[in-house]
Amino acid sequence: MPVSVIILAAGQGTRMNSDLPKVLHPLAGAPLLAHAMQSAQALSPERMVVVAGHGAEAVEKAAQAHDPAAVMVRQDKQLGTGHAVLQAKDALADVDGNAIVLFGDTPFIQSETLQAMMDARAKHDVVVLGFEPADAKRYGRLVMSGDTLERIVEFKDASDEERAITLCNGGVVAADSATLFDLLSAVTNDNASGEYYLTDIIGIARGHGLSATAVICDEAETQGINTRAELAQAEATLQSRLRAEALDNGVTLTAPDTVFFAHDTAIGRDSVIEPNVVFGPGVTVESGATIRAFSHLEGCHVSQGAIVGPYARLRPGAELSEGSRVGNFVEMKNATLGEGAKVNHLSYIGDASVGTGTNIGAGTITCNYDGVMKHQTTIGERVFIGSNTMLVAPVTVADEAMTASGSVITKDVEEGALAVARARQEVKPGLARKLFKTLRAAKEKRQKEVK
Ligand code: UD1
Ligand code: MG
Repeated sequence: MPVSVIILAAGQGTRMNSDLPKVLHPLAGAPLLAHAMQSAQALSPERMVVVAGHGAEAVEKAAQAHDPAAVMVRQDKQLGTGHAVLQAKDALADVDGNAIVLFGDTPFIQSETLQAMMDARAKHDVVVLGFEPADAKRYGRLVMSGDTLERIVEFKDASDEERAITLCNGGVVAADSATLFDLLSAVTNDNASGEYYLTDIIGIARGHGLSATAVICDEAETQGINTRAELAQAEATLQSRLRAEALDNGVTLTAPDTVFFAHDTAIGRDSVIEPNVVFGPGVTVESGATIRAFSHLEGCHVSQGAIVGPYARLRPGAELSEGSRVGNFVEMKNATLGEGAKVNHLSYIGDASVGTGTNIGAGTITCNYDGVMKHQTTIGERVFIGSNTMLVAPVTVADEAMTASGSVITKDVEEGALAVARARQEVKPGLARKLFKTLRAAKEKRQKEVK
């Protein structure tokens, strides 16, 4: 049975107090929306529809960045969750099967939970995700009789008796797609909020003799993000989970609480991550690598046995081969480092390739930017780049060549050659002493003048 996913992401998220639409606030380096899309992806949906409204252009861009196949629809006025789902009707007109509705601001729903809902769909026409919160607050309440879900009542519309119900609506709904839109067409906005509630479809379904039930999940899964405080709390929750996963996978974290992962960080067994390391999105670290303290990595790949840091910065496109070494205060971007190659101190290596066994001396800079365009630096194998070499790109230093320290290399250096590009040293005997004397005399004279 094919399944389509509808993700509601049109709301403003007023309580975030932000110009950024709520669903675009990042959690472990990915927008909230991407987390919701990711959970749904496990169902291998036939189609994924994102309903955007507030900040629609930015929301659509983020959704398509996560899944280029996702279909975007707009809800221009936020008239309620039921109205929001209806906006997806045309986009799903040509697909049969199930539809499942998720909220873009609810990032923790587990794929297994969605699968359990699809399984329950085999026996019931409409399936809703329920949970038992510690504090039922203003959630919609599930009115059950036995296994049957009779209706959902929103907090604002609930009687005291209904408010006493502890089973709440987590927001996810699954039904046959055609049935879902049929039921929605009967929903009105005659309620305390004046909104078209998605939740009203349950009572309507039961009135039509259809069956409905609830699948229950952990409260942690249905946690929605409404405020910056909740976002920070969610980040903390997710980080502890990611740390626990890394430890389970055989990664040593010297001080787990100080390491920050992205949602997609992949680290191999027997790697060591020292304290205060931050991973942005898109990082893979192979087994047996060491990331030393205070390093920042994003969009990069670190191979087996490589050592990074302390205080290193690997930016997108940094590719470190086996046994290579990036030391303190080194920044790499869009650059490959060959096997066993070393950039140990105070360097910038950008838009470059560095061959096997090459050593880059302290303070070396690839001058990749001319103020308008970026250019490539190519450094061969077993090259020795002397300290404080400026490599003015585009430039090539071929295999087994050397550059003298302090050189500004503007022309290609051929294989095995030594390039010296700096002023020649001159030594003037006795001149330093003479100069000191003159300067000290000048200082004394000035001090007298001041008095
Ligand atoms: C909803 C449920 C409530 C449930 C709670 C769980 C309804 C009517 N109520 O209430 O039973 O307990 O979630 O968190 O469904 N959205 C749109 N367009 C709209 C309105 C909302 O896209 O016109 C989106 C929001 O951006 C958000 C989601 O739908 O991602 C949920 O909307 P929200 O206003 O938070 O619903 P709740 O009042 O929390
Ligand atoms: Mg909400």
